[in-house]
Amino acid sequence: MIDLFQGVSDYCRLVVPEAHKLPIAVVGAGGIVDGQHLPAYKLAGLEVVGITDVNLDRAREVAARHGIPCVYPRLDELLADERVRVVDIAVPVAYQPPIFRAAVAAGKNILAQKPFTTEPETARELAALASEAGVVAAVNQQLRFDEGIAAAHRMVELGWLGELTTFTLSVNAFTDWTQWNWAQAMERLEIMVHSIHYHDTVRWFMGEPSSVYAVAGRVPGQFPVGETRTTSSYRFPDGSSALVYANHMNPGGDNTAEFRIEGTRGAIRGTLGLMYDYPDGRPDTLEVTSTVVGTDGWVPYPVTQRWFPHAFIGTMGSVLEGIATGSSPRSAVNDNVKTVELVAALYRSMESNEVVHLERTSRVE
Ligand SMILES: NC(=O)c1ccc[n+]([C@@H]2O[C@H](COP(=O)([O-])OP(=O)(O)OC[C@H]3O[C@@H](n4cnc5c(N)ncnc54)[C@H](O)[C@@H]3O)[C@@H](O)[C@H]2O)c1
Repeated sequence: MIDLFQGVSDYCRLVVPEAHKLPIAVVGAGGIVDGQHLPAYKLAGLEVVGITDVNLDRAREVAARHGIPCVYPRLDELLADERVRVVDIAVPVAYQPPIFRAAVAAGKNILAQKPFTTEPETARELAALASEAGVVAAVNQQLRFDEGIAAAHRMVELGWLGELTTFTLSVNAFTDWTQWNWAQAMERLEIMVHSIHYHDTVRWFMGEPSSVYAVAGRVPGQFPVGETRTTSSYRFPDGSSALVYANHMNPGGDNTAEFRIEGTRGAIRGTLGLMYDYPDGRPDTLEVTSTVVGTDGWVPYPVTQRWFPHAFIGTMGSVLEGIATGSSPRSAVNDNVKTVELVAALYRSMESNEVVHLERTSRVE
C-alpha cells in the first residue's frame, strides 16, 4: 500500500536542480526572511548574493547571521547588480507594488510576498507589467508547497476523490499581532495577511467561485483595528461549496487547524501543523479514503516536511524552474490576481453583509 503514495511524494519533493539555481537578492530583512526564507534557501543550496532593508542595521544583522556577502544601502543598487536574477520581495504590502514595478523595469524575475497588493486593479497592472517585460513573477503563496496540502492536491489531481464536492478548513489559534507594527492600523487584516493562504488554496483545489459570503469578528481590547476572526463561505458554479473559518484570538490554548476535502469517491482529512505552535509548528497530518484506489478505509500519508520553512523552497524553486524551463510557477502572479480579486470580494461581502457574485464584480473593482 505504501507504493500507492510514491507518485504523490515525488510531486511533493522540494529539491531545486543545480541547473535551475540562479543568484537571488532579498528586499526586506524582517521576521519572515530571517526565520523562513533564508533557512529554506540554505537547505536547498540556493545562492543569496545580497539583501537590503530600509533599516540597514537590521539588514546587516540578518546578512551576518545567514552569511550573505552584500548589504545594498539602497534598492536601486540591488537592482543594478547584474548578478541578481531573482528579486525576493518581503516587505509590508503597502511597499510591495513600487518595489515590484522597479524590479520589472530592471528586468529582474520576482518572487513577491503575499499579498503582493491589496488592490485588484494594481494586481492586474503588476501582472501585465511582468508579462510584457517577459520576466517570471510569482507570489509567495507557499501553502501550495506545504506537504500536507500539496499531497492532497496531487491525490485530487490523480482522481482519487472523484468529483470534488466540498473543501472545509477551520483554524483556532492565538496570534500575537504585536509582533507586526505595520498590521496594527490595517482595517482589512485577517484575510489580507493570513487567510489569503487558505483562500488561495481553496481556489487551487476548487477553481473560481461564483459567489462568496463572509463575516468578520473582533475581540474587545485587541491590538489591531482590523478583523481577527473570519468566516467565509463559497458557492461554485457546479453546486459544490467551501468554508474557511479562521480564528486568531483563541483564548483556550487548544489550537487546532483542520481541513477536509470530500469528493464523490473519497475524502481527505488533515491538519496544518504550523498553526498548532506558530512559527515553530509540527508536521502536518494527512489521511485519505478512496474507492478509486481501494484504500479500505482511512490510510495515513507520511508527511515528512513542514510548511515553515520547507515550503519556501517550493515557491522560490518554482520561479527558478520557470526561468530555466519556461514553465508557469505554481503560484504565478497571473493566477494570484484572482486570489487578490477573491480577497477583495470577501471584504466587500463582510462590509456590505451581502453575497458577492464574482463574475459580476471581480472585473470592476
Ligand atoms: N507565510 C508567509 O508567507 C508570511 C508570513 C509572515 C509574513 N509574510 C509577509 O512578509 C512580509 C514581511 O513580513 P515580516 O513578518 O517579515 O514583517 P517584519 O515587520 O518583521 O519585517 C518587515 C521588514 O521590511 C522592512 N521594510 C519596510 N519597508 C521597506 C522598504 N520599502 N524597503 C525595504 N525594506 C522595507 C522593515 O524595515 C522590516 O525589516 C509582509 O508582506 C507579510 O505579509 C508572509
